[in-house]
Amino acid sequence: MTIKVQTSGKLYIAGEYAVLTPGQTALLKNIPIQMTAEIVTAGTISLSSDMFDYVADMTPDHNYALIQETVTSLAAYLGVTIAELRPFSLTITGKMERDGKKFGIGSSGSVTVLTLKALSAFYALDLSADTLFKLASYTLIKRGDNGSMGDIACIAYDDFVAFTSFDRQQVRDWIVNEEIQTVLAKDWGYQIEVVKPAIACDFLVGWTKQPSISKDMIDRVKSSITADFLKNTQASVLSLKLALEAGDKISIKKHIERISDLLLKLNPAIYNQTLLNLKLASQGLDIVAKSSGSGGGDCGIALSFDGKDSQKLIEAWEHAGIELLHKETL
Ligand code: PMV
Ligand code: MG
Repeated sequence: MTIKVQTSGKLYIAGEYAVLTPGQTALLKNIPIQMTAEIVTAGTISLSSDMFDYVADMTPDHNYALIQETVTSLAAYLGVTIAELRPFSLTITGKMERDGKKFGIGSSGSVTVLTLKALSAFYALDLSADTLFKLASYTLIKRGDNGSMGDIACIAYDDFVAFTSFDRQQVRDWIVNEEIQTVLAKDWGYQIEVVKPAIACDFLVGWTKQPSISKDMIDRVKSSITADFLKNTQASVLSLKLALEAGDKISIKKHIERISDLLLKLNPAIYNQTLLNLKLASQGLDIVAKSSGSGGGDCGIALSFDGKDSQKLIEAWEHAGIELLHKETL
């Protein structure tokens, strides 16, 4: 019997770059564009992804390294060797891209959560969203990923979340010195809270069709982060969360605008011309828009409080070469 599981995409609403510093909060929303894994009993472990035109086993393979390392983490977590795992065939599809250009709504990390979800279902482990988050983060930190793991929180919980980040260097040290079960059992000091917006508005995603690599953007922008940027972003992110929960439109607009301005000032690489256009298109409309994630391309988001204005924005985006990737009512 084949078991099928899925993971959603994600987008940052607020708190980008700041969340790289432990204790800072970001808001992220799940995007219902799915990646799928199918897993079935097999004679030996076999891994297949539509990103590559060949199948791998557990022999080290550069392309399949992340999936292989996720399998290795899970086996270690269960206290068994790879050879002791009941063998399976895992097939992953849903590249989250068009014409070879990625949407920028997933992350290289999302395949880790997807693989864990598939293995959890296959071995009937019923891993919680929190354990999925910790196991996926463990795997990525071990590999030297330089992200905040906010994307992993959103994808593991498959929801709109407020993620307060943890000290990744601390966890890195634990990984080197302690058993995986010990590391997983510790309190890492993060917080993941599901956010329930209480406002009727359109949530729109504009795709610039310009792929941006978060890892490189982080390396470029990181040194510009100041204590003031952190303090001001945190204040507005927390206010934005409250405003979303209270359905306070004026405050939502004000704080998204502030967070966007702080990103604009942080580093000119974030708002490239297309993302500037994406934001500019909201001017004069009952809409607030900003870049999402690392910037330099990928996607921007908008919250629209008027259906007609949403339509105007979509048309303006089209003129600017920005494609509406997703639209939903919050
Ligand atoms: O571009 P994305 O969606 O991968 O977002 C990156 C957000 C950063 O804060 C810049 C990095 C991170 O991992 O938090
Ligand atoms: Mg990005």
